[in-house]
Amino acid sequence: MTLQFQTPRGTKDILPGEMPKWHYLEHVLRDIFTKYNFREIRTPVFEDTDLFARGIGGTTDIVQKEMYTFLDKGGKSYTLRPEMTAPVVRAYLQHHLGQTKALQKMYYIAPMFRQERPQAGRFRQFHQYGVEIMGTQAPLADVEIITVGVEFLRRLGLKDIHLKLNSVGCLVCRPVYKLELQNQLRPVLEQLCGDCRNRFHTNPLRILDCKKENCRALTEEVDPIDNYLCDECKSHFGEVKALLTEVKIPFEPDKRLVRGLDYYTKTAFEIITDQLGSQDAICGGGRYDMLAKEIGGDAVPGVGFAAGLERLITVMDKAGLFPETDPHLDLYLIGLGDAARSWVYRTAMQLRRNNLICEIDYQQRSLKAQMREANRLNAGFTAIVGENELKNGSIPLKKMETGEQSDIPIEVFAGEIIKSVGRS
Ligand code: HAM
Repeated sequence: MTLQFQTPRGTKDILPGEMPKWHYLEHVLRDIFTKYNFREIRTPVFEDTDLFARGIGGTTDIVQKEMYTFLDKGGKSYTLRPEMTAPVVRAYLQHHLGQTKALQKMYYIAPMFRQERPQAGRFRQFHQYGVEIMGTQAPLADVEIITVGVEFLRRLGLKDIHLKLNSVGCLVCRPVYKLELQNQLRPVLEQLCGDCRNRFHTNPLRILDCKKENCRALTEEVDPIDNYLCDECKSHFGEVKALLTEVKIPFEPDKRLVRGLDYYTKTAFEIITDQLGSQDAICGGGRYDMLAKEIGGDAVPGVGFAAGLERLITVMDKAGLFPETDPHLDLYLIGLGDAARSWVYRTAMQLRRNNLICEIDYQQRSLKAQMREANRLNAGFTAIVGENELKNGSIPLKKMETGEQSDIPIEVFAGEIIKSVGRS
């Protein structure tokens, strides 16, 4: 039977069995972000549509084709966030986070929404973790951002990752390069793919990262942006590369790396893996010194990255990098008869208040069924309590691994268990 209601195309349920992987990654992320002194930010799942149209750029694929945009009942246009950088900058401006002049270092772990064609590693609802540093133009901030991203992946044990690095220039030098690129590509314009022919007019730099063989061949010989960077961008890029070398983070300069969002200035980077086929980017980011101004605020420089958790989980699974996490229960308490069931329930509550993972039966099932459940749940201990046990004042506690059994006086039962099984 096919159910009438299923997850929408391009989305998926994360079932309880998969959650330990998510919790593990979130735990390591929060740990590492905290050590680098980033603090968490949460923003609404939907924002004013114009925030993204202006922030990400009207000619980008995200804005033109991929946004989940809707009118609310008052006729106002909202969009489910396709990314977090524009919302974070909006929050920074709205709450005057820059007033103290202190740097703002923020992180997030949150769902994003893009109406892309679903395929392996590409979803319509996906999760990003990311960091943003706002309030400084220093190249060291770019390097801190890259470092935290790479350190996290290293800590997980990921190998075969490549950091691709480029500078996309700034409002001074990029327009000059755009014109030059158009001049160099004009003779082959008709041979480029349809998308690239459009990009030629709207955003010629994006032609460089077209994945089509033919477009790549036609753009092989064009001058790289390096040759056109202004002095400031050149020196910034040089310093970023020098600092990365100093902290021993290998990188590969990639003159085709331009990124799919328009807000970047100077540094742009991606971390890719060999394990993912065509959707090979686990992480992407860069500097966005004009974004705050673009969305109506003062010019506040910023730099950050975001990375896809679903893609990361696929890579981790392939490499067998997740730690074993058997679902575990400290104790399954079985009560037979009304009085015993009541004792079992009260005792379970007491144990849980003392940090033990404890389960009981809700349905007055048979002893056999409850034992089967205790086994299925991988309980460390079980105790079977009936009228006799209550009368004798002694509870048999069974260690499931060895079958060993000990009788514990009922009045000290909870205390004994907490002492021997409990965790702080
Ligand atoms: P982005 O490159 O669009 O950058 O996305 C970052 C990462 O999110 C990608 O490298 C990929 O791992 C993941 N991702 C993107 N789209 C999908 C999808 N449809 N399905 C699964 N995973 C996906 C940004 O979003 C920028 N806000 C990054 C940034 C932060 N730049 C500066 N600060």
